Amino acid sequence: MTKVEGLSISIKKKNRTYSLVRDVCFKIEQGQILGIVGESGSGKSLITSAILGMLNHLEGLEGSVEVSGRNILKASPQELRSLRRDLIGYIPQNPRESLTPTLKVGSQLVEVIAAKTGRNGRECRPVAGELLQSLGFSAPEKILQMYPHQLSGGMCQRVAIAMAVVSRPALVVADEPTSSLDLLIKHEIMKVIRSIQAKQGFALILVTHDLDLAFSSSDQIAVVYGGRLVEMGTAEELMLRPGHPYTRDLVRCFTRSGAENCGSYYIPGEPLSIYTRFTGCRYFNRCRLRLEICETKEPACVRLDNGRVACWLF
Ligand SMILES: Nc1ncnc2c1ncn2[C@@H]1O[C@H](COP(=O)(O)OP(=O)(O)OP(=O)(O)O)[C@@H](O)[C@H]1O
Ligand code: SF4
Ligand SMILES: [Mg+2]
Repeated sequence: MTKVEGLSISIKKKNRTYSLVRDVCFKIEQGQILGIVGESGSGKSLITSAILGMLNHLEGLEGSVEVSGRNILKASPQELRSLRRDLIGYIPQNPRESLTPTLKVGSQLVEVIAAKTGRNGRECRPVAGELLQSLGFSAPEKILQMYPHQLSGGMCQRVAIAMAVVSRPALVVADEPTSSLDLLIKHEIMKVIRSIQAKQGFALILVTHDLDLAFSSSDQIAVVYGGRLVEMGTAEELMLRPGHPYTRDLVRCFTRSGAENCGSYYIPGEPLSIYTRFTGCRYFNRCRLRLEICETKEPACVRLDNGRVACWLF
């Protein structure tokens, strides 16, 4: 299980402290997918960076992140290296940039497998082939001989997925794994991720702007706004009965964008800058349902039957 409790991230600038992420909590069981959605700058990547142990050096990092009982935020740099090798996989946004252009796919994959499994290069070659086959490549030997520029974006992403899952991690984090791919390929890539997840049973955190992908792929959805988790629930429940006004607006944007004769729907205004101090709800300036109290006091995150929500309407 992956358990995030009270995760807060703040930075200091010119003797002032700015809160970037506040009190994020969630759990993901093995074999489950948690989709994290929210607009640009809401804190999604900061949350995943903390989970990957990339922010352990920050003074303003609080809370705990447990993956299979190991506390990531308390790990030393040496422990982190082994946790990333054995326990956590990462699927990048732009796989082509994460591959070395001058090295064949085979040698890069073999190097990663050797580092993650401790086997020698010769033993790793067949493992690389089998892994590529399980990710849908019909002629893996041919792919191993190619350079990254000879592969399409979708093929590069499948190679990156192979690198992320080779040690059978407990958790895989995918930050916008399909945003550099065209529309037709994105569902194919998600299918590949889900099929390897079904075989290995890891928990998956899927960060995406793409509500279609998030709602069609995830078991649970976490909606992030202004550095806070404002609502969490099953994908079905949030799509049918969104509670938080921001989730309602998101779902309305999403459902209207595909429907004919509905006209488009947009969320008015801009999110507050992280440098703006505001004691109330950070959605206040854009919320169509705001109350008086919302301007001065931030609501706590409360439990509902099937999830959680941070809004004074509840
Ligand atoms: N090292 C940093 N120092 C200062 N501010 C930062 C730092 N890293 C992120 N931020 C700020 O924190 C906020 C959240 O950033 P983050 O990258 O997590 O957003 P995001 O939700 O992933 O956005 P996107 O969807 O565009 O990837 C942004 O306002 C960003 O400018
Ligand atoms: S707390 Fe108030 S302003 Fe914030 S989303 Fe709920 S109703 Fe709107
Ligand atoms: Mg991001």
